[in-house]
Amino acid sequence: MGLFITFEGADGCGKTTQIELLDKYLKDKGYETLLTREPGARGLGVKLREILLNYDGDVSPNCESFLFLADRAQHVDCIIKPAKKEGKIILCDRHTDSTVAYQGYGRGLDLKRINYLNDIATSGMKPDLTIVFDIDAETSMQRVGKEKDRMESAGIDFFNKVRQGYLEIAASEPNRVKVISSSDTIENIHKKVVALVENLL
Ligand code: TYD
Repeated sequence: MGLFITFEGADGCGKTTQIELLDKYLKDKGYETLLTREPGARGLGVKLREILLNYDGDVSPNCESFLFLADRAQHVDCIIKPAKKEGKIILCDRHTDSTVAYQGYGRGLDLKRINYLNDIATSGMKPDLTIVFDIDAETSMQRVGKEKDRMESAGIDFFNKVRQGYLEIAASEPNRVKVISSSDTIENIHKKVVALVENLL
């Protein structure tokens, strides 16, 4: 019944390009897909995204986590679960591992607590496959450029913690989480993504 695939990685890792290529590949093969994202897929989520990425006052790490989690709960209940029931392949740009990597490893919040809260927000639903696109700080900074949103402005130490977080998540759940290096051509990376997904079809 459906498939749930999440795309993860630090800012500038190229996952949005890759998720769009995979969506096209699957559609061309006749699969019904849902391309979606966190934060802010649609409706209420769009408002939460606006606050999360653009609010320019103080935001406490706990508050930030709860806003991402609120967006996730709404997204899972109103968009992901219904699509999964319809048998669609859901391609989601960021999900639970972003909160572990950014708020857990990046901001330093307790990982057990974040896992517990993620579990509540998703009612325990886990991705069938998660692809982490691994990128180094220098390449990321070049790609993101000067126009940074609130999260992208957090600096290089924060970036390195997030990157390390993703690698640790992948090491602790090797069956679900696969890492692809972003320092390759778009076409080669796409081929690696397709190979991982074809294993599940
Ligand atoms: P977005 O513009 O979607 O970035 P990207 O194209 O890199 O995915 O912005 C999402 C930002 O929010 C990104 O910097 C990661 C961050 N984020 C968290 O910190 N925690 C989360 O749980 C999620 C979903 C995203």
